[in-house]
Amino acid sequence: MNSNAAAPAVTGPDRPAPLHVAIIMDGNGRWAAARGLPRTEGHRRGVDALRRVVRAAHELGVLYLTIFSFSSENWSRPASEIGDLFGLLRRFIHNDLAILHRDGVRVRVIGEREGLEPDICALLNEAEELTRSNAKLNLVVAFNYGSRQEIAGAAQRLAREVAEGKRDPASIDADTLGQYLDAPDIPDPDLIIRTSGEQRLSNFLMWQAAYSELVFVPIHWPDFDKAALESAIAEYARRERRFGGLAAKTGS
Ligand code: FPP
Repeated sequence: MNSNAAAPAVTGPDRPAPLHVAIIMDGNGRWAAARGLPRTEGHRRGVDALRRVVRAAHELGVLYLTIFSFSSENWSRPASEIGDLFGLLRRFIHNDLAILHRDGVRVRVIGEREGLEPDICALLNEAEELTRSNAKLNLVVAFNYGSRQEIAGAAQRLAREVAEGKRDPASIDADTLGQYLDAPDIPDPDLIIRTSGEQRLSNFLMWQAAYSELVFVPIHWPDFDKAALESAIAEYARRERRFGGLAAKTGS
């Protein structure tokens, strides 16, 4: 993703909708536990929330929606839960891909494909291929994704070019490294939302989040809906984005 994205300085209701919203969909397990249900039911209801939020994001003028679907660290969960999460992804693509395509959604996937089961890789490729020409909303699925791994991969590719004599190390700056991340053409997120009250990035888009506004909401992901997204966007609109510069109003 591109680290140069500049946003209008205006704050308040006049600020345009964030171009790119990224979401850490947290709290599925706690949502289920609070109802005496198995964790997998929380994840299943999390997919329902995802469907609602994809629709809402488009209605609210968002052009890129990135979701943290499975992290590089989620492999430490019990095998049964990993199996459930992979099963949900399979079902989501089987059931929803045609609908997403009909609605003009382009699906992109970031994260490590190596080590994933071949049928999962095939489904991810199919989703990307089928929707390649769509432009109403970009749904970026972070799957088997970790920000440190993504940055290390970029460093590795650059180092290889240096070793092969194709690149001068002095030519490497932040923009260069940004071009070697998983989706360099996607603008940095303007707004990152994490549900369930936790307040951390957990290895999600750490490079791209340099100037993102972070909004933490107390509700669990399965309860997230259009109103919650609107309220997070309203909070974003109240923030003053300075990108390391000075306040627009006071010049101080
Ligand atoms: C965090 O809740 C959520 C996840 C680890 C996975 C998110 C996945 C989905 C919403 C469904 C799958 C997505 C697709 C695209 C099919 P948690 O389990 O960490 O909740 P907890 O912190 O309350 O235990």
